Amino acid sequence: MHDTQQTIVTDQPVFDVTEIRKQFPILHQEVNGRPLVYFDNAATTQKPLAVIQALDHYYEHDNANIHRGIHTLAERATAAFEQTRRTVKSFINAAEAEEVIFTKGTTDGINLVATAYGRKFIQAGDEVIISAMEHHSNIVPWQMLCEEKQGILKVIPVDENGELLLDQFEQLLTDRTKIVSLVYASNSLGTINPVKKVIDMAHQAGAVVLIDGAQATAHLDIDVQKLNCDFFVFSSHKIFGPTGTGILYGKRRLLEKMPPYQGGGEMIKNVSFEKTTYNDIPYKFEAGTPNIADVVAMREAINFIQQTGKPAIATHEQQLLAYATSALENIPGLKIIGRAKEKVSVVSLIIDGIFHFDIGQMLDARGIAIRTGHHCTQPLMEQYGIEGTARASFSVYNTMEEVDNLIEGLHRIIKMMKR
Ligand code: ALA
Repeated sequence: MHDTQQTIVTDQPVFDVTEIRKQFPILHQEVNGRPLVYFDNAATTQKPLAVIQALDHYYEHDNANIHRGIHTLAERATAAFEQTRRTVKSFINAAEAEEVIFTKGTTDGINLVATAYGRKFIQAGDEVIISAMEHHSNIVPWQMLCEEKQGILKVIPVDENGELLLDQFEQLLTDRTKIVSLVYASNSLGTINPVKKVIDMAHQAGAVVLIDGAQATAHLDIDVQKLNCDFFVFSSHKIFGPTGTGILYGKRRLLEKMPPYQGGGEMIKNVSFEKTTYNDIPYKFEAGTPNIADVVAMREAINFIQQTGKPAIATHEQQLLAYATSALENIPGLKIIGRAKEKVSVVSLIIDGIFHFDIGQMLDARGIAIRTGHHCTQPLMEQYGIEGTARASFSVYNTMEEVDNLIEGLHRIIKMMKR
């Protein structure tokens, strides 16, 4: 397993999935006359009751604007908001809570760094390196930056299995490389990248490194100090929390050197028409009223992960992945896209003669939710010579019986289409 993941190695169940499922009300419904099988967890995870109740509780009891009022509700709301910051600090092992910035999500975090760090530190001829398996949100902000600053965007190639070609990465690094921005786990292939190695290599070349943790944070143990990454971003909604909020972790030394991303309330110390002085981190990067309720509820999502235990979650998901992969391999005409040695619980597939979109629609008719399309990784799909895949992604509450359902569904689809 990956160097930062402490997976329990066993074929036995690591927890009672039925008990876990009881915490997720949405799972207990029928879709198109069949029990819902939710396999679109890489797009967004479902929310445990504790998260849903935290949202209700906040709006029923504590709602107020934060960091401003001196009244009791404002103090309660501020305390709950700042408590999540401290919970995230421990969750990712940041050195200080001030290095944890609330954003709208992963995309927002990357744009913040590309804008605030990139615009200040990238000059004409400087280089930014990404990989061929990036999500569009880790491509386009760097393209925009390079276009504006006449920088050069370089791409680490990926082999047929969906693994990074590290020797080629080494050759891309030069003394003009200023930023390396890499996805930890690929949303369309599942590949877990050797991020620690990439970070060390990039640092030797003098570059800073951003890690896109959107698909990794629910599955792998995240320790930003051990990784020694300069920036780390992820979304709350992919780790069982609400949509519309996420985290940018940055090293204090870098965050302090960066100008604000947006101007407005909260991010200032003092404003006059002649001159404005900016607030300290993290507030310098949190202009405007943030998504308070969802940040407060995000804490419950992290508590859920901690209580269930990341190693147990990872083991359960790896069991589902292994079971699904071996069953899928036996389906004639089906090809798995993404065969990296280390994967999170994502399996992307194509079937000879059947459009991925049709697979998704026909599975939905059987109550099975998967995602189809290019998964916002068009350049990667182009490399594989395909338009898209059908992708199933597993989470803590999925079961082997659900995987059986998927396999049976695929067999039936193939039979029906070949008639
Ligand atoms: N990036 C998310 C996915 O892969 C939305 O589905």
